[in-house]
Amino acid sequence: MQEELIVRIESFSNLGYGIARVNGQVVFVENSCPEDIVKIKITKETKTYSKAVVLEIISPSPFRVKPFCAMQKICGSCQMQFIDYDFQLELKKQITKDAIRNIGGLDILVNDVIASPKIREYRHKIQYPVSQTKVSKRLLAGYYKSGTHDIVNIKHCPIQPEICDKIIDYIRCNAFNFGITGYNEKKNSGDLRHVVIRNSSYNSKNLVVLVVNTSEISESLKSFALDIYNNLSDIAGVCINFNNKKTNVIFGESTICVVGDDYIEDRIAGKTFRIGPDTFFQVNPLSAENIFNYVNAYIARNFAEATVLDAYAGITAFGICMSDVCKKVVSVEENRKSCALAKDTLRLNSIKNIEINNMDATLFFKQETRKFDIVLLDPPRKGCTKESLDEVVRLCKKKIIYVSCNPATLARDLKYLTEQKGAVVESIQPFDMFCHTYHIENVAIINIC
Ligand SMILES: C[S@@+](CC[C@H](N)C(=O)[O-])C[C@H]1O[C@@H](n2cnc3c(N)ncnc32)[C@H](O)[C@@H]1O
Repeated sequence: MQEELIVRIESFSNLGYGIARVNGQVVFVENSCPEDIVKIKITKETKTYSKAVVLEIISPSPFRVKPFCAMQKICGSCQMQFIDYDFQLELKKQITKDAIRNIGGLDILVNDVIASPKIREYRHKIQYPVSQTKVSKRLLAGYYKSGTHDIVNIKHCPIQPEICDKIIDYIRCNAFNFGITGYNEKKNSGDLRHVVIRNSSYNSKNLVVLVVNTSEISESLKSFALDIYNNLSDIAGVCINFNNKKTNVIFGESTICVVGDDYIEDRIAGKTFRIGPDTFFQVNPLSAENIFNYVNAYIARNFAEATVLDAYAGITAFGICMSDVCKKVVSVEENRKSCALAKDTLRLNSIKNIEINNMDATLFFKQETRKFDIVLLDPPRKGCTKESLDEVVRLCKKKIIYVSCNPATLARDLKYLTEQKGAVVESIQPFDMFCHTYHIENVAIINIC
């Protein structure tokens, strides 16, 4: 490994690294931006690529800005915060285009990214891992340092509502008084593994979830939950989730609500939603609203009385927003709690034209005999299976609206639909849901021929 090299950053990778070339070999450079000239140190070499860190910025890219968070370089969350926001959007558009072309083999126009209406305090779901210091046993809570499981103890995070800092700090300072220790990941010991907060952008209420390394509640945990509820303002409720497995998965199977409500209410696109401790909901409500409005406007322009299948529906957020412009929505979601909250949400909004199905999407597709004008797919990051796409094409009369948080799996699935099923991609619209990170949400509209 050569110690130090000076390189020019040419482009940007889908995982947030600047890309340079040395003797024809790709080098992924952390914390760098196209048009930077930087002195780097190679940290990893493989046959096909290398990784490097920046030692010195020789000549900064004109797209560099001062990050608004003092922890940006240390904390692994906002990889792009040192890049001008408009240029972040261009880079994310390029990430989508590259995936669609290189993985999907498709030459399709990708629209400009629709910006997030807020680029600070935009994130309404916070999941901090917790540990403790070796000697003083002080609790640490924050995000992981990039590429590690070392917790950066975050006192202030400007991408989430300020109240979250207060809640986390209260927990960090007071857990010890209740005999609650921080989690030790290596030994699978200690009590508190994660603190999760769901914040409502509508009424600023917060649902606090303490994820603990036990299978049942102790008196001290119960007292601590009550203490949080009684001493902090704007707490909707405090829940305990039990997860005593040696796993990276944050939530265990069971959650109890110790005090208050086990949900928050948010109001998006004119609808009130109930969001639970561990049910999926988009982290950026204003960008989510942009997507819901975009999908609604498309349906209203193109269909008079559409029937829609909302698959991988979560709390049926798309279906609920679409219910005004559709004749009938049928949703399918495997998570039982999401389906229960979806039913509460239907009652809250007096919606009568949605049918909710709690089951595996592929199983549902296979046994379904009705056909739908539109199938809206919003799968997890891994995308859809070929088997499920075969069934979706069978069930869909006109359009698939594919909402994706992973350009690579979207591109793979578009390749299958176009090459094997004769589908035609009409448009791809990116939305910035996760500002300052390399993540990007896309909505692809696909015609079934
Ligand atoms: C990206 S989220 C989308 C949720 C929802 N459309 C929204 O915007 O709030 C993916 C959802 O798919 C659900 N899911 C994952 N695998 C599934 C499967 N095999 N069958 C049905 N639902 C599944 C997850 O529980 C999650 O709610």
